[in-house]
This record gives sequence, structure tokens and C-alpha cells, in this order.
Amino acid sequence: MPFINDVIEDNKKLNDESKSMLDGSRATRFRFDPDQAIALLKTRIIGQADMHDSIADMLHVVKADFGSGERPLAVFLFVGSTGVGKTETVKVLTEAILGSASQMCRIDMNTLAQEHYTAALTGAPPGYVGSKENHTLFDFEKIEGTYSKPGIVLFDEIEKSSKEVARALLNVLDSGRLELSAGTKRLNFNNCLIFMTSNEGARELDGYRRKFESGWRKYLGHRPCRTKEQEILNHALQKKFDLEFINRIDRIVFFEELGHHFLDDILSVELVMLNKRLARHQVSIKLDDTARQYLVGRHDPRFGARHLRRRIRAHLEPELARALNADPGCSSFLATCHSEKLIVCPD
Ligand SMILES: Nc1ncnc2c1ncn2[C@@H]1O[C@H](COP(=O)(O)OP(=O)(O)OP(=O)(O)O)[C@@H](O)[C@H]1O
Ligand SMILES: [Mg+2]
Repeated sequence: MPFINDVIEDNKKLNDESKSMLDGSRATRFRFDPDQAIALLKTRIIGQADMHDSIADMLHVVKADFGSGERPLAVFLFVGSTGVGKTETVKVLTEAILGSASQMCRIDMNTLAQEHYTAALTGAPPGYVGSKENHTLFDFEKIEGTYSKPGIVLFDEIEKSSKEVARALLNVLDSGRLELSAGTKRLNFNNCLIFMTSNEGARELDGYRRKFESGWRKYLGHRPCRTKEQEILNHALQKKFDLEFINRIDRIVFFEELGHHFLDDILSVELVMLNKRLARHQVSIKLDDTARQYLVGRHDPRFGARHLRRRIRAHLEPELARALNADPGCSSFLATCHSEKLIVCPD
């Protein structure tokens, strides 16, 4: 007997086909709005113009639904230094398309640092313990998605996995298939957006870009050259990964270091998120200029937005918690800075 979900999916398929025959509109099975997804991404991920452009291109192509169906819908590698928004981008995109970040299948590749961990993805080979159970870190349902929504997979921090583990993914990236070692089950990634993140090459590329920020290059108005940047990145990636692996990636997107000029916007994003959490207790908080300056003032770009988050957690949240506990009836708070100390008081 078919599962109720299969029946619903089949009905959707028939509905779409008959609707497009009646009104002459072109049928696309996908039910998500690329523009809405991109708008959410732009409010949550500050800067990273290359990423916004390439995700927008990809979402429109996927939605148009003319892919071959013989490989994943998209394969992206996000490269950049720590705390610049690589993982967060995939979370926000999943939220925009599937309703919640928990709907993606996330594999933390740093847990697969030794070659025998390949079995964590492909299952144990025949004759080994667990081979019959088809144990794998992949969540079948999240990978395969549904008729109207793609699945989303994130291989996070791929450079930390062993080369053998990365090699096990070659077929996934190419033909969208992964046969589990026991030979009894095959995973299908052809309705799936695949994202990978890595820090590889970020340091070299940032070093190259920094040369143009001062000295004679700046004086003469020289700018970093795109082909040279690509060369540096490719060189670093090729040192780390097999050429076959890199060759199967549709798009490599470089995430820039988050300079001072982005901080105020990132702080606003963090405050919106904090206020969302506080709204559960019917409470809100505002920051005056001195408090904002205190939080963004000592930013170290090497640590990305995580540094700012840490300052919020270490300096703002404890003060807010104290003020909340001292005055449980108050619903509106203001943070301000006095003689180098952050203070939160009822507004
Ligand atoms: N560009 C950005 N805009 C807004 N917030 C950001 C941005 N980049 C990072 N953040 C914030 O910093 C946190 C950490 O970012 P994220 O996990 O995406 O870092 P990452 O680039 O994956 O770094 P790592 O290589 O260390 O994993 C996020 O949860 C988010 O709150
Ligand atoms: Mg990350």
C-alpha cells in the first residue's frame, strides 16, 4: 500500500500538469519563491555580495526546473575565513526554502578526520558489524526532499575530513548517487542542493588582498586582480583536494573578511535575533549610540562576526539578565555605556 505522502505528491504532480494544460502557464514543480529567499538572505547575511549573486542565480535556475535530473540540483563550495557567514548562509537558505534550519541534513566533516570514517557516510562494508543496518550519517528524507521542495545537504568544514572521505563523495557530486557499501540501498541526491564549506585558501587570499590596502599599490590605485585571486584560491584548493573533486563543484564562492564598515549592520541583525528571543517573555531591548560603539569598537576582523557575538554574550546579555531579574515587571530596556561599562536599565 502506498504511503499517504506518496499519494499526496502524485496528486500534486497531476494537479500541476492539468493546471498548466488548462491555463497555458509553464509548470514548475517547485513551490518556493527565489526572490523571497534572497530577500531573507540579504537581511540576515551582511556583505558577501558574490554569495548573494550566485545564490540568486542558482535559485532561479532551480525554480525554472529544466535540469537533467541526473545530478544534484546544485553543488556549491563556500570558502572563507572563520565567522564570515558560510554556515549561517546555508541555515538561512534552508529556513527560507524549507521553513526551518533543522530541515537540512548537516554533516560535520571535522568528525570524519580518519579514512575509516568513510563508513560513517557509506555504511559498513559486507561482513562488518552494522553492514546489514545501513547505518549512515545521511538522513534519507532530508536529502531526497519532496516533489515541491529540494533537499538541502551541508558538508561543513570539508577540509577537516580525510581525503578518503572526500573521495567517497565523488559520485554524489557527479551523478547524485551513493550506493551504501552493503549494496542494499542507494541514496539519491538528484533533488538536492549540496553545499560545502571550507577555510582552505582563505588566509592566502586575504593576505593577497591586504597588500592593496596600504603601501605603493594603494598609492598607485592598484586593485586586487580577479584572475590572480582565482589562481591563489585554486592553488590552495588543489593542494588540499583531488582535481576530480574540485572539478565536480558548480560554483566556488569566496566569502570576504568582515571589515569595520559591516559591523553596525551585523550588530543590528544580532539585536533583531535577540529581540525575537526576548519577545517570548514580552520584553525588548534597545541600544543607544554609546552602547553600540562599545560593542563594535574593539572588533578584530580575524575572528569575523563571532567576535561581535561573543561581546554581546559576554557584556550585554549578563547586564540584561540582571536588569530583567531585578525588575520582572518591566518590558522595555535600554543599554548604554558609562565610563567604559555597559549598563542596562528600564527604558
Ligand atoms: N556576514 C554575516 N552577516 C551577519 N551575521 C554573520 C555574518 N557572518 C557571520 N555572522 C554571524 O556569526 C556567526 C558565525 O557565522 P558562521 O557560522 O556562518 O561562520 P563560518 O563562516 O561558517 O565560520 P567557520 O569557518 O568558523 O565555521 C553566525 O551565527 C552569525 O550570527
Ligand atoms: Mg562554519
